[in-house]
Amino acid sequence: MVKGRLPHRIKHLHAQYGDIVRVAPDELSFIDPAAWRDIYPKNFLRPNEYKDQPPGKTAANLIACTETEHVRFRKVLAPGFSERYVMEQESIIQGYIDQLINKINGRIAREAEAEGKGTGKTTLDVVEWINYVAFDIIGDLTWGSSFGCLDGLTYHPWIQTVSQFKTALAVAATKFYPIVNRGLMAITPPSALKDVMEMWKVTEQKVRQRVERGGMERPDFVSIILAAAAAASKDGGDGGKGESMTQEEMEVNAMMIVAAGSESVTTVLAGVINYLLRNPEKLATLTHEIRATFRAESEITGAALKNCSYLNAVLNEGMRLCPTIPDSMRRLVPARGAIVCGQALPADTVVSIPPWASYRSRRNFGRPDEFLPERWISPDQEGKDDSKIAFNPFCLGPHNCPGQNLAWLELRLILARLIWGFDMSIPPGVELPSWEEQGIWWFWDKMPTLVSFSQFR
Ligand code: HEM
Repeated sequence: MVKGRLPHRIKHLHAQYGDIVRVAPDELSFIDPAAWRDIYPKNFLRPNEYKDQPPGKTAANLIACTETEHVRFRKVLAPGFSERYVMEQESIIQGYIDQLINKINGRIAREAEAEGKGTGKTTLDVVEWINYVAFDIIGDLTWGSSFGCLDGLTYHPWIQTVSQFKTALAVAATKFYPIVNRGLMAITPPSALKDVMEMWKVTEQKVRQRVERGGMERPDFVSIILAAAAAASKDGGDGGKGESMTQEEMEVNAMMIVAAGSESVTTVLAGVINYLLRNPEKLATLTHEIRATFRAESEITGAALKNCSYLNAVLNEGMRLCPTIPDSMRRLVPARGAIVCGQALPADTVVSIPPWASYRSRRNFGRPDEFLPERWISPDQEGKDDSKIAFNPFCLGPHNCPGQNLAWLELRLILARLIWGFDMSIPPGVELPSWEEQGIWWFWDKMPTLVSFSQFR
């Protein structure tokens, strides 16, 4: 876990031993697709070791909370994740994609000028640039102001702190050895938490400023929480129609949404671009679909992109090959025990599906390591050896991803508009990182991915 190799190791163990592997004395890993139905919709809880309370805060958040709190949080936030609300956010998202495209064009123009040419190209690390746009979008949609990454083409310190997954996972690993964990906590000097405390200060400030500005017309998550609070106070706050959040709950959940909603989009798009560049014929098919479907950039909208079947297939294939949460999604068998894939399991057994192992297994997908978007379009041909029920990129059940509508909108818009505006290629002498070899600390430790962009229009 500390070395970022655990999901890789579990994948090897499944290849060696099959559908069910005992990966620890009390922990079973499943790649049989039937396990999805038996585990996730059943409301099994996350094990305590994986419910991390971020340092410096005590309020519950969507991940570290009781079941009652979880139901309350999801109820308060649900309107903000609805398809209707996400459609209201589209113009904000398009604005950041405009900025991304303008910045790439600006760089191309500067390099062309420097070289004395009329048109030119530029090389960018797509991991970094997609991260900029993804963080700016989710900051704006959460607390009404972006991180300014695209303005300065640099990460905000908040992002650098919240993305320290390696440290967070090393601390989580010590929870398996309570004495070590207590010892570590006892000797950790307050100065070690300086960056985290600074991150909370920024979070508090952003949420406070948004609350002070007030107004529930702007389509962001603080609006949604304020609307819930207003309904709760009308309701007497009795837990009837009105459910609400405290100020600190608002801050920790806002942080959670920003972290979950940015890393995930960056992973899928960086992965998809990497695979498209390695498979030029697939890139050509996608490029043809986008450039033949639309006559003008202004026609590229979320609603129109839903009908672009190859684009949707490419994104599904990206989520299969580069799952945003590649590590096992662990859950605890409840006190009454449970049956998973026909196995009767006692209370407190940790059960999980590891997406990385499951989506790359020949048991569930034909030609599992190939980038084959066609499998999602022709289930009877390229997809004939696939088990579609084995693929749940947003998980299932009460702890599934609430951000699916927003995720699809961002993924479709960013990829389609990049394809519309630019020809992308592997720069001479550059080798793209091999996705499979990257480390995993909850999320992929994404290596820089240098891509050459030249203006198509
Ligand atoms: C490609 C995009 C995305 C994918 C593939 C994805 C996938 C997932 C998955 C698999 C989980 C469940 C994790 C587990 O059970 O351990 C999850 C949880 C979550 N996701 Fe996403 N996600 C994406 C985008 C987003 C976005 C854009 C947002 C926010 C705006 C978001 C917010 C969340 C939150 C808050 C949770 C925790 C839910 C809970 O525990 O109740 N995700 N996501």
